[in-house]
Amino acid sequence: MRKKVTVIGAGNVGATVAMRIAEKELADVALIDILEGVPAGKALDLTEAAPIETHDSKIIGVTNDYSLAKGSEIVIVTAGIPRKPGMSRDDLLTTNAGIMKSVIKEIATVAPDAILIIVSNPLDAMCHVAFDTSGFDKKRVIGMAGVLDSARFRAFIAMELNVSVENTHAFVLGAHGDTMVPLPRYSTVAGIPITELISAERIEAIIERTRNGGGEIVGLLKTGSAFYAPASAATEMAEAILKDKKKILPCVTYLQGEYGIHNLFIGVPVKLGSAGAEEIVEIKLTDDENESLQRSAQAVQGLVDDLKRLG
Ligand code: NAI
Ligand code: 2OP
Repeated sequence: MRKKVTVIGAGNVGATVAMRIAEKELADVALIDILEGVPAGKALDLTEAAPIETHDSKIIGVTNDYSLAKGSEIVIVTAGIPRKPGMSRDDLLTTNAGIMKSVIKEIATVAPDAILIIVSNPLDAMCHVAFDTSGFDKKRVIGMAGVLDSARFRAFIAMELNVSVENTHAFVLGAHGDTMVPLPRYSTVAGIPITELISAERIEAIIERTRNGGGEIVGLLKTGSAFYAPASAATEMAEAILKDKKKILPCVTYLQGEYGIHNLFIGVPVKLGSAGAEEIVEIKLTDDENESLQRSAQAVQGLVDDLKRLG
């Protein structure tokens, strides 16, 4: 039987995720949005591209009909409002928390065995909302941020050294925001740590550009935020789960003492397989790296506390 992935939110990220999953023939795709006609229209458009793109994935789009999500292995949640110029991810907190709650209630009813990949911002806090609302095991609530932030880091490293992106590997941990923690010591080109290939000054500049990666694109687009790379990142995570690849990727997951962080969603290396976030990989951090991760955790905790205060 074919696998099914449901994508909630048929906007820029959601529709692009649907396209990538269908074109890679990873699964059939159900696309759900509150907008009248939009999910059906985008699904039909993608279906009409299939003969040219040579895939047989089925893509169906509906408005508010969650019965379509039944039987999904994975549900990717992109519903929400995106960042506009001048807005921080945190400005999105209360609006997107309300949207997340309503979406997850529906999903927990129709697809109680699904693995959730959360994309909506502010990402780490939205994972808490999804976890609390669904009641799912922590392995089945995973946030997409580190794969995107690391891809940006990798793209900038490849540009700096004029090498193939395929030679690059990078780890960005922590929250999806200004406090993210790029780890140059664990970032390599053809296996060589970038600390041996790029000057400290240039690494700092690349880190700064990575931290501001989302903001740089918002500043250029003006009417929304990045979606091609975010969709690629969510698709890589979905593929690792659907194919039970046991792939280690930086993902937002629920920590219960790992890295000295308790009861908090934040980005760390995770092994992804058919059960979801199957294992949290604890890598050794220097005092400075650990301090940055703890600072990032405090920023997420602040948002989680705000969410509780705002009800
Ligand atoms: P978009 O505005 O293009 O699409 C959002 C879609 O969600 C819209 O079609 C809207 O109608 C729909 N929606 C709103 N309320 C809904 C509800 N209750 N049920 C179902 N659908 C609903 O926005 P875009 O660019 O696709 O971004 C989506 C979210 O993903 C934003 O919160 C954005 O900040 C976040 N994001 C997160 C990234 C990450 O690294 N975690 C990267 C890129 C975006
Ligand atoms: C990004 O990093 C908006 O969080 C989104 O592009």
